[in-house]
Amino acid sequence: MVEVFAVASGKGGTGKTTSTLALGMALADDYDVTVIDADTGMANLLFHTGLSDRETTLHEVLGGDEPVEAAIYERFGMDVIPCGTSLSGFREADPARLREVVATVAEQTDVILLDSAATLGSRSAVLPIVLADRVVIVVQPTIPAISDGLKVQEYATTYGTGIAGVLFNRVTQDEGIDRVSDKAQQYFEGEILASIPESEEVREARRASQPLLAYAPESEAARSYRNATDSLTVRDGEEGTVADRFRNAVIPEL
Ligand SMILES: Nc1ncnc2c1ncn2[C@@H]1O[C@H](COP(=O)(O)OP(=O)(O)OP(=O)(O)O)[C@@H](O)[C@H]1O
Ligand SMILES: [Mg+2]
Repeated sequence: MVEVFAVASGKGGTGKTTSTLALGMALADDYDVTVIDADTGMANLLFHTGLSDRETTLHEVLGGDEPVEAAIYERFGMDVIPCGTSLSGFREADPARLREVVATVAEQTDVILLDSAATLGSRSAVLPIVLADRVVIVVQPTIPAISDGLKVQEYATTYGTGIAGVLFNRVTQDEGIDRVSDKAQQYFEGEILASIPESEEVREARRASQPLLAYAPESEAARSYRNATDSLTVRDGEEGTVADRFRNAVIPEL
């Protein structure tokens, strides 16, 4: 079985990387999980997982220098494929090769989480949303952020990608979450998976180069992420079919 999720948002800094790793660790209790930093231009998953000193990353794989196996690191109960941050690595990376990377990984894992780029501005940025089975949309509970999230939803559904649900992140007491959540429920196709509070533990985890669920597993934010995966029933797509879809996909020109 395998299902591929893109973790996406409209705006940057909404908590995609934090959420990718938190959902990944929660799902790893029941599944073989692989997380891939598919934000090859502005990668930051490596900083959240203590992998910033690794020489072989997705960049080298997309540059044709290394096989994907060389960029897979076992961290926190998951397989993690980080991406480098150098401009030269980005320049030499062929984004189209990400299809082959996901196809290869699909044959050896149950759940793939693609930490995606914030904008929909390039072919490499749209690839996860176009090719995933479903998208998890991470937004702050404000009208402008939701409006951006809805653009991601529209883009995804245009290409036949499903919506797994919406994660509200960085929620504070005064944001009238109920009011916003009611609105969101009307417009988003998936369910509201969780409301993650703005929390010091999330910031500290990042500073400690650890995912939240490793750094502060009993925090309210960690609990909310675990609850989110309870309502995220993973579908058992057939590995070969999913792999072929990625291998043969045509990425739209923008
Ligand atoms: N719930 C939260 N409470 C407090 N800080 C948070 C929360 N979620 C994320 N942050 C902080 O906000 C910053 C951005 O988070 P993160 O890197 O996960 O976002 P992102 O969407 O992946 O960003 P980018 O678009 O740059 O890839 C990080 O420093 C992170 O620690
Ligand atoms: Mg990120």
